[in-house]
Amino acid sequence: MTITKNITVFASGGGSNFIAIHKEILSNNISGNIQLLISNNPGCGAVAYANESGVRTMVINKIRYPSTQDLINVMIRELEKVKTELIILAGYMKLIPNEVIKKYKDRILNIHPALLPSFGGKGYYGKLVHRAVIESGVKTSGVTVHLVDEVYDHGKIIQQVTVPVEKSDTEEILASRVLKAEHKLYPIVVKAFCEDRIEWVNNIPWII
Ligand code: GRF
Repeated sequence: MTITKNITVFASGGGSNFIAIHKEILSNNISGNIQLLISNNPGCGAVAYANESGVRTMVINKIRYPSTQDLINVMIRELEKVKTELIILAGYMKLIPNEVIKKYKDRILNIHPALLPSFGGKGYYGKLVHRAVIESGVKTSGVTVHLVDEVYDHGKIIQQVTVPVEKSDTEEILASRVLKAEHKLYPIVVKAFCEDRIEWVNNIPWII
């Protein structure tokens, strides 16, 4: 009997990674259960998909939670309420509070549309990542799935795939090629996590 892990997703945008993972869960390829979607953007595609698919949502905004500590307390209460065992960031544009990172140490995943540590960190998000990749002249970009720690785009790398950069690429063309690779890689890493197939060797996580 496979143990199903309870998952909470954080997203702020279109939600295509969230959807790709949810589809694999619905096809019984991942032994996980997305119990909650947390977003700072009520009008985003991820929230719309969650509402259509019956996934509970929690929208965070400054108006409802004026004090940061209130927001953190409510966020932790909601994560506990659904017995979260794995947090997945899928295009979430806000920082995760340190209290949450500590509480869910080594159980928060993020996906970045480049080969970290290159083209990562503050200011590298969305199209800006692909613009920097093209302008740098590198011939290979890719996707990184990593654990989240207190420093943006800095946590331990779990898995990466490479994606070719073509001479005629624009930011949009490269972004779309990389996004396709994201939709393949993220479910693979989430599946490994749900099956407890992450092994630590010299403090580095590897999928077994
Ligand atoms: C993806 O490119 C991901 O790498 C980055 O944000 C984007 C999210 O896209 N973190 P989506 O909302 O999953 O479609």
